[in-house]
Amino acid sequence: MGEKRILCVGLVCLDIISVVDRYPAEDTDTRCLSQRWQRGGNASNTCTVLALLGAPCAFMGSLAPGHAAKFILSDFQRRSVNVTHVVWQSRGETPCACCIVNSSNGSRTVTLFDTNLPDVTDADFEQVNLSLYKWIHWEGRNASEQVKMLQRVEEYNQTCSESQRVGTSVEVEKPRQELYQLFGYGDVVFVSKDVAKDFGFCSASEAVKGLYRHVKPGATLICAWAENGADALGPDGQLVHSDAFSPDTVVDTLGAGDTFNAAVILALSRGRPLHEAITYGCQVAGRKCGVHGYDGIV
Ligand SMILES: Nc1ncnc2c1ncn2[C@@H]1O[C@H](COP(=O)(O)OP(=O)(O)O)[C@@H](O)[C@H]1O
Ligand SMILES: *[C@@H]1O[C@H](CO)[C@@H](O)[C@H](O)[C@H]1NC(C)=O
Ligand SMILES: *[C@@H]1O[C@H](CO)[C@@H](O)[C@H](O)[C@H]1NC(C)=O
Ligand SMILES: *[C@@H]1O[C@H](CO)[C@@H](O)[C@H](O)[C@H]1NC(C)=O
Ligand SMILES: *[C@@H]1O[C@H](CO)[C@@H](O)[C@H](O)[C@H]1NC(C)=O
Ligand SMILES: *[C@@H]1O[C@H](CO)[C@@H](O)[C@H](O)[C@H]1NC(C)=O
Ligand SMILES: *[C@@H]1O[C@H](CO)[C@@H](O)[C@H](O)[C@H]1NC(C)=O
Ligand SMILES: *[C@@H]1O[C@H](CO)[C@@H](O)[C@H](O)[C@H]1NC(C)=O
Repeated sequence: MGEKRILCVGLVCLDIISVVDRYPAEDTDTRCLSQRWQRGGNASNTCTVLALLGAPCAFMGSLAPGHAAKFILSDFQRRSVNVTHVVWQSRGETPCACCIVNSSNGSRTVTLFDTNLPDVTDADFEQVNLSLYKWIHWEGRNASEQVKMLQRVEEYNQTCSESQRVGTSVEVEKPRQELYQLFGYGDVVFVSKDVAKDFGFCSASEAVKGLYRHVKPGATLICAWAENGADALGPDGQLVHSDAFSPDTVVDTLGAGDTFNAAVILALSRGRPLHEAITYGCQVAGRKCGVHGYDGIV
């Protein structure tokens, strides 16, 4: 039997990306440099990067049948991401995001529509055979349901030997009160710059020190901060930092955070130390910022 898989639970959407060299003014009609469809969504992007880094992985999230879902599914298959746990919903639409990427400095402006497709539930998650996975990552969305899923893994962990246990991580990316209960679950918690700022912190090191009391005993808290790299605090109380690894030119930062998460999860799931894991995360995320999309990050 090969390496056990990593499962990512969260959103998949269709990203329609226009690359511009200058942001358009409102109510004007301009040409862009290039345009592409890309499978997007935080958990879905994390799967893409895991697959590119050579880690067997699977995605769990909702889709509604239609053209967008067909495109998304074939792209998952192209990347060898297992889609057995996709939940097909009978109401709502597959989410779609319009993204404008500024190729002069890589900034990305996103409008997302994802309001009417039901999220996966704990009942869906009950179908997952946990013994096939070594790590499960949740993109914080429907937190009350996701807490039940995390508790299910906790119970499962108690029934098996240490080497069979499933590691867990959660990402708290949006500054929404409902998501903050997720701090208390998961072996690893990723907190975004946006959330850190919402709590009044001005740097990654301040954020991990200030928010550490909200995580469960023994957990690790990680915060990435764009060109300032990332900081992390683990149960030994030692603050670790990695600088960013800037490419020669930053052309596309869309999914930089998802790339960082994937590389960190992979390193930690293989037992690497925290400092090495966040350094690896910044290296891979830095390479991603220098290319459009994900090909070429390895
Ligand atoms: N402009 C940049 N230059 C170099 N590295 C970057 C840049 N932006 C992001 N990164 C890398 O990506 C990681 C994640 O950054 P983050 O701010 O969370 O990305 P996102 O824009 O997706 O929210 C950072 O820790 C850093 O290593
Ligand atoms: C795009 O990048 C250029 C160069 O940094 C900058 O002058 C311009 O304001 C940027 N536009 C947007 C919308 O980010
Ligand atoms: C995906 O995973 C399931 C088990 O979760 C397995 O039965 C199936 O064969 C896998 N699919 C592929 C294409 O590997
Ligand atoms: C790009 O430029 C815009 C406008 O000057 C700025 O708001 C944005 O933060 C820059 N983005 C990056 C990734 O440097
Ligand atoms: C779960 O997967 C294991 C293989 O790791 C298999 O032995 C077991 O029968 C599966 N359990 C269920 C309920 O399918
Ligand atoms: C979360 O999921 C539950 C069960 O499906 C649902 O009742 C609830 O409305 C959802 N909450 C949010 C904020 O989406
Ligand atoms: C699963 O087991 C590992 C190993 O004992 C433990 O560190 C971790 O906290 C457990 N995860 C959950 C979500 O309970
Ligand atoms: C995914 O994460 C990035 C930050 O890492 C965020 O800016 C973006 O809005 C997220 N996308 C979705 C679809 O939630």
